[in-house]
Amino acid sequence: MTPSAIEIQARILSGYADASKLRQEHDRDWVLGHVPGEPGVLLDLGSGIGQLLQAALDRFPSLRLAVGLEGSPHRIAEATERLRPYGDRVVLREADLNAPEPPPLPAAYRPDVVTMTSVLHWLYPTEERILAWVARHLAPGGTFLVTTYHPARDPHGLGGEDDIVRDALTALGVRRADVPSLLAGGGVLPIATRTRTVADLTDLFGEHFEVVGIAERAAEVTVEDAARYAHFHAATFGDYYSRLVEPARRAAFFRAVGEAAARRQEERGRVSSMPVRLWRLVPRA
Ligand SMILES: C[S@@+](CC[C@H](N)C(=O)[O-])C[C@H]1O[C@@H](n2cnc3c(N)ncnc32)[C@H](O)[C@@H]1O
Repeated sequence: MTPSAIEIQARILSGYADASKLRQEHDRDWVLGHVPGEPGVLLDLGSGIGQLLQAALDRFPSLRLAVGLEGSPHRIAEATERLRPYGDRVVLREADLNAPEPPPLPAAYRPDVVTMTSVLHWLYPTEERILAWVARHLAPGGTFLVTTYHPARDPHGLGGEDDIVRDALTALGVRRADVPSLLAGGGVLPIATRTRTVADLTDLFGEHFEVVGIAERAAEVTVEDAARYAHFHAATFGDYYSRLVEPARRAAFFRAVGEAAARRQEERGRVSSMPVRLWRLVPRA
């Protein structure tokens, strides 16, 4: 069976430039506004299609090097195109931030600032590895800026996007009460579990860093129609949830996700709202 356009989009995580306008784009300047001084080298972890690197290069003339580590080769390819005009001020590398031994970093790439936005939950439950790696690789006096999301979660650990997926699966005929076990059976950890609690993250960061600043605000998602949200879901979550559904019903799944979001928009004036937190961290002495 030929996969639908949206299934292909989900598989290669394409369409992020447009999809991220709904949410992640709003954090970019906010995060860069917390970069202290005039950085020489900035490293972005999970750099996606290079949007934060581009904004940093434009914002900080002092930046001689912007380095991106990213797991998706499709995203690296898109970032390479986007950042081509910046020439040798840019280095992009494909890397798995979850690998037992994260990539070696040449001394010339030692960053004064490391950023990681909308990524940490994908590294659950082994985030500690990359945190230790960052603490080891930051230049003296360097800063680590991380954003984390905090959706409300139910007793099964579901919340945020899991709730929209639950509505979609229910519309496709799954019993509402069976959704947590369907996720567990398919090896899909709820996003609201992956995001951890503030207390949990405080302990986790505290192993290697001192928290020197916290900023928090509401991450609100609104959408004009169901199709736009289905595309946002495919570009952001890829096939993470859709693989729970048999191949013949995957196009219907993405449609149902879009419709669930549009229903929320109509009933509540928004699809979702949750706190997003920006942590400013420095390595422990
Ligand atoms: C929601 S996107 C965020 C992209 C970008 N940081 C932003 O704020 O727009 C999450 C990114 O993390 C990347 N990612 C997830 N798990 C990863 C891993 N284990 N190693 C490297 N990159 C990963 C994904 O490919 C994706 O580009």
